[in-house]
Amino acid sequence: MVNYKELGLVNTKEMFAKAVAGGYAIPAFNFNNMEQLQAIIMAAAETKSPVILQVSKGARNYANQTLLRYMAEGAVEYAKELGWENPQIVLHLDHGDSFETCKSCVDMGFSSVMIDASSKPFEENIAITKQVVEYAHQYGVTVEAELGVLAGVEDEVAAEESHYTKPEEVIEFATRTGCDSLAISIGTSHGAYKFKPEQCTLDPQTGRLVPPPLAFDVLHEVEAKLPGFPIVLHGSSSVPQDEVDTINKYGGKLEAAVGIPEEQLREASKSAVCKINIDSDSRLAMTAAIRKTMAEHPAEFDPRKYLTPARESMKKLYIHKIVNVLGSDGKAL
Ligand code: G3H
Ligand code: 13P
Ligand code: ZN
Repeated sequence: MVNYKELGLVNTKEMFAKAVAGGYAIPAFNFNNMEQLQAIIMAAAETKSPVILQVSKGARNYANQTLLRYMAEGAVEYAKELGWENPQIVLHLDHGDSFETCKSCVDMGFSSVMIDASSKPFEENIAITKQVVEYAHQYGVTVEAELGVLAGVEDEVAAEESHYTKPEEVIEFATRTGCDSLAISIGTSHGAYKFKPEQCTLDPQTGRLVPPPLAFDVLHEVEAKLPGFPIVLHGSSSVPQDEVDTINKYGGKLEAAVGIPEEQLREASKSAVCKINIDSDSRLAMTAAIRKTMAEHPAEFDPRKYLTPARESMKKLYIHKIVNVLGSDGKAL
């Protein structure tokens, strides 16, 4: 059993309280490999932004949970080497699917866990979330829960349609579970295809698909019911069209990929939304840079030659999100 404090990590408690009060959001970036982690830490250190490193089930299967945990420990030291004296880094389990998974992460040094029982009936979601909270809080580990269902695939549970969070349920849920933050469904979803073309309108000037707006009315109702309570948005990639274009130009085939417009995420960041999850945008930036470099330098076979521009591109993306979308720069001096 290792406590996250021994690894130099922090939980989300104080971070979220400051973000809600200050009208900004903390970036929660998923990582699966060294280059992604380096880019996240370089971006956070350069902007002095608190940051949440997220580990999904897919990441644990790909890279191994233990290895990822040691990489996060190394990331704290790396951040200090980069000149960030007081790094505020959270290691968070993304979409934990059972009490056992959450417990194993608490026991190995994660500072925050998500229990995602949102696909289960209300009472079952409360019971499992409460069990995780009771265990995690003994060690100071904070817990994110979810109410409402996001469209798309969430930890192998595929939902055809999203079901918005019901504001009338949030007080009972937060009170009975004791969770520290709540992920809600207001129209975001995972992946690079967040909306079907028929849900969008066509911008005649750019020829791009414009998605329907997020359900800010639901967010405001939730905020009114739970004033100051930390709210989380999953599925918040914006799917930058220049990255999609680069991928397609160099042999990729991404058609009608549409994300959440950044202005809407900027607006959400000013509310009680204090954690915004971004994974797909980093995947797009990495893939676009690799495809371009490989196409332009076909004789190159040293992976460092195409992973260096990929890492640079991800770092640029993370800095952009921190500074221009979430407003978390300078909040971890
Ligand atoms: O929740 C979704 C995240 O983007 C993680 O996705 O399970 O493919 O790693 P993944
Ligand atoms: P995106 O697929 O929109 O990046 O969402 C990531 C996420 O919510 C991870 O939990
Ligand atoms: Zn998610």
